Amino acid sequence: MKILKIENLKKIYGKGESKVVALDNVSFDVEEGEFIAIIGPSGSGKSTLLHMIAGLENPTEGQVYFYDKNIYEMDKKNLTILRRQKIGIIYQFYNLIPTLNVEENILLPLELDRKEIDYKKFDEIIEFLNLTNRKKHLPSELSGGQQQKVAIGRALMINPTIILADEPTGNLDSKSSNEIVQLLKKANQEYHQTIIMITHNLEIAKLANRIIKIEDGKLL
Ligand SMILES: Nc1ncnc2c1ncn2[C@@H]1O[C@H](COP(=O)(O)OP(=O)(O)OP(=O)(O)O)[C@@H](O)[C@H]1O
Ligand SMILES: [Mg+2]
Repeated sequence: MKILKIENLKKIYGKGESKVVALDNVSFDVEEGEFIAIIGPSGSGKSTLLHMIAGLENPTEGQVYFYDKNIYEMDKKNLTILRRQKIGIIYQFYNLIPTLNVEENILLPLELDRKEIDYKKFDEIIEFLNLTNRKKHLPSELSGGQQQKVAIGRALMINPTIILADEPTGNLDSKSSNEIVQLLKKANQEYHQTIIMITHNLEIAKLANRIIKIEDGKLL
């Protein structure tokens, strides 16, 4: 089953002399359960593409269908709900709340939605991440790799339809990077979690089922 249909996406920033074509007619589909890596040089439009897919920004032209729903035709409120409940986003710099501990960070999206918390699932995830003895730690008391694991836990806890990760290993050494990607791979295999991951690292990209290359805003 198709989760995403990305159709002729075009994004132009600025005008005149400062005009930048960040995405140029990008189209592709994503099937349930796929693990896709997006690679390309700096400035090629990778983050822009991910933002469009998450509905964080509107394209200049083109459409994104989440199942059969055109996300750009949804009103703001429903789009926000879709993002919070169905899309797990992971960033290079973790984006954890510094004053909340590991457990509170992971449960935050559910608290925001006033959803009942499945503590069995929480325990399973925290074990999966190997953070069981770090539940009450603040982000500042964790290594970079551990912080990124918390961000993955936060994404997995909402049981998202898709995870979008923008250079999740961009800030980590090779050992932690490897651990993070293995976790994503396991989430893909064991939870059948669909994942789109941006990376600069070809070795890491090779762990995905499909590699999409982008250059100057165009798919190669
Ligand atoms: N808000 C913005 N306003 C103007 N130009 C922008 C904006 N965001 C991105 N761009 C431009 O669009 C192009 C694509 O940027 P994008 O951030 O998508 O690249 P990227 O592939 O993610 O690069 P990196 O690997 O360095 O993260 C770049 O040339 C960038 O300067
Ligand atoms: Mg980027």
